[in-house]
Order: sequence, then C-alpha cells, then structure tokens
Amino acid sequence: MATLLVNIGQLVTVRADGARWKAGPAMQELGILQRAAMVVGERIHWIGLPEEAYQLQAAGLLQWEEVYDVGGRVIVPGFVDAHTHAVFVGSRAHEYRRRLGGATYQQIAAAGGGIMATVQAVRHASEEELIAAARPLLWRALQHGTTTMEIKSGYGLTTADELKLLRVIRRLAQELPLRIIPTFLGAHAIPPEYRDRRADYVDLLCYEMIPAVAAEGLAEYCDVFVEEGYFTLEEAERILQTAQQYGMRVRVHADELTPLGAAELAARLGAVSADHLLFVSDVGIEALRASGTIATLLPGTAYTLRLPYAPARKLIAADVPVALATDCNPGSCFCENMQMILSLACQDMGMLPEEALVAATLNAAAALDRSHELGSLEVGKYADFLVLQLQDVIELFYHFGVNHVAEVWIGGRRVWRVPPDVTKPSSPVS
Ligand code: NIG
Ligand code: FE
Repeated sequence: MATLLVNIGQLVTVRADGARWKAGPAMQELGILQRAAMVVGERIHWIGLPEEAYQLQAAGLLQWEEVYDVGGRVIVPGFVDAHTHAVFVGSRAHEYRRRLGGATYQQIAAAGGGIMATVQAVRHASEEELIAAARPLLWRALQHGTTTMEIKSGYGLTTADELKLLRVIRRLAQELPLRIIPTFLGAHAIPPEYRDRRADYVDLLCYEMIPAVAAEGLAEYCDVFVEEGYFTLEEAERILQTAQQYGMRVRVHADELTPLGAAELAARLGAVSADHLLFVSDVGIEALRASGTIATLLPGTAYTLRLPYAPARKLIAADVPVALATDCNPGSCFCENMQMILSLACQDMGMLPEEALVAATLNAAAALDRSHELGSLEVGKYADFLVLQLQDVIELFYHFGVNHVAEVWIGGRRVWRVPPDVTKPSSPVS
C-alpha cells in the first residue's frame, strides 16, 4: 500500500547519491526540498513536486492508494541510534549522585558499582523482566525520533546471561516497530569471579560465548570495551578477530576514558565504527580516516561524566565520517533521546546543525553498515522518517529541551503520532 505525502514544508533528504557516508564539508549538505511530495510504500518510491506526481499518475507511471497532507511541516530521516546499552534492569541513580559529589566513574566501579552493579541485577532478572524494563524505554526513544537502534548485550557476562540478553533484544525487535540491530558485548567488563584469572574469561569469550552467539545468529556485531581496568588492546584484538572468524563484524569502545590507542586498533581490524573517542590521538584520527571507520561520538556520556568532549571539529576537519549516538545505559549516560544528543553535539562539540543531522542519520546508518537502505530519504531506501512540528529544520536545534517529533513513520507506516490535542491546543494556553 502506497501513500502520497503532500504539503511537506521542508523535505530534508540528506541525500547521498550512493555514497555510504558524508565527511568534511559534505556533512553540511542536507539536500532540502521545499514544498516537496513523496510516494512511499515500505520503501520510498518517488520524490518530487506534487504537480509532477499527479502528471505521472495520469500517465499511469506512479500510483498510490492514499494521500496524506503533512500540513507544511518538516520531514527528516528517522534517527539511527548506533550505540546503546538499552536493555537492563535496575537504577544507578545513587551512583549519579555520588559522581556529582566528586567520585569518578572508575572509583565507583572499583567499589563494586558501575557495570557490575547492573550485571548483578540482570543476572537475577528473567527475560520477561528485562523486556518489561526495556519496552517503555524503547518506545520513548521512538517517540523522540529513533527509528533504528543498535543494542548491546554486556550486562550478563556469563554465557547463559549474555544469551538471555541477546534473546531479549531479538524478542524486542520482533515486538516493536523499531529496527533493532544486536551487538554482542560480552567483553564489557571482567566479571569479579575472573578477577585473578582474566585470561580464562577471554578464553570463555573466544571458545564458548562467541561460538554460542554465532550458532544462534543472535548478534550482527561484536564490541569490546577497551579501557584501563577493562580489556587491553591485546585481549580486544583476540576477541574481535575471533568474532570476525565467526562472521560477526566489529565495533569498539575506543579511547573513552584514557588514550590507549584503541582507535588505531579499530582501524587496523577494519571495524565499522570506533565509538566514544574522547581521548583519541592525532595518530588515531588519521588511522580512522585512512580505514573509513566511522567515528561514533556520544556527547551524552561526556556530559554525564563531566569529561572533555570528543574532538568533533578535529575529526570533521580530518575528513573522518562522524556519527552521533546516545550510548543509552544506566551508568554513564541515561538518555534515550536523540534530540538531546543533537543539542549537545552543537552546543558542546561545536558541530553545525546540518553536520549533527547528517551524523544522526546517514552516517549513523553507515556506522551500522545500513546506509545503502537507511539514513537518508532517497528512492529505494526504507521509508523511515519523522514529521517534525516545525517550519524550519534549524528550529530542531534552536528550540531545545522539548520533543519536536509529531509523527514517526517506519517502513512507510505511521507507527506513532503525538495526540492531536498536544500539537493543536483546542483552547488558548493561559
Ligand atoms: O559506553 N563504556 C562502557 N560502557 C558504557 C557504560 C556502561 C555502564 O556504566 O553501565 C559506556 O559508557
Ligand atoms: Fe557504550
């Protein structure tokens, strides 16, 4: 079933004309069409001016069953959130409070909090409890404009509990309209029972967990938290190469808290994405550029941990394709709202609105190896888009702290819209 959308005030296509991503000055090109029309089924059939659509229809070259008046509002591609840890149970609000009092993320982890606090909670939770916790969070992400979300395991850290998390992620993907891409992050932390024999945990990852995940086809990607106190470069290389042998592609938590050179490792292994990069070196930046690895920046984490932001301007100047994501997790950044991330990217990392939007759509799709079918509004790609209650797309950044998403469409179907009384108050607001 096809729909003709008319009266689109601005159609922000982010068109890439076959390119996998945009880098450098091209990140400022949004491909905006005024007064456009679009015909969508599951994929985008046609884009142009409304009068052309009717001419083609009369000639029998274009058809639709429904006409939908967008009311002069703005349409943008749905946001692709390419880095989340969104399936978990429990709250770490007390850790947040302690950090505001001066404790660091690493100090809290050393005292038994951090990732291990969530791991303990997840190990005790059933699949149903995990789904019940994640469902409202994922719906909220969608209502704020996310149409594709990568979700990592990494809060189980036993074979059974990692498989449990990945099965939950698969069930959520079946239940929700959101497109969900699963990543195995068994190398998120060394669990305490392996503290004095960490090599055994790396063996467990390579000989048991990765084969089990691959056998069930539960993850498309494998990720490693390369960090002091977590996994070394050598351990990460072995884990990621094993995952590659089992058919997974790789991505890396790189140079988040200390400059270890994990960006270089990501580039060398041909990772699709190197993420965080708060402490990336100049050598690391050049390695990413040369390998075409996407730099996925997560400004919500620097904001929450009050750390210096990743060098977005330097990365863009070096022609590294930059993506943006939430990092949604219960510890270092509890935020599922991509609009907040866009705001931080502009205000605190010095990105331009156009660059931030490209980073959250096309380049984020590239960070999941999906930019051939997602991330921009072009004929042949999936019809995943947002109707924003705005006149001009720059207002998405200018007017911050509120939700501008009026409708979410995924695969040509409207899967959510704000209740009409919210966008059009029936009585004057006093
Ligand atoms: O991306 N870096 C590791 N993982 C998350 C934090 C997870 C947690 O604290 O629970 C991150 O920051
Ligand atoms: Fe993360």
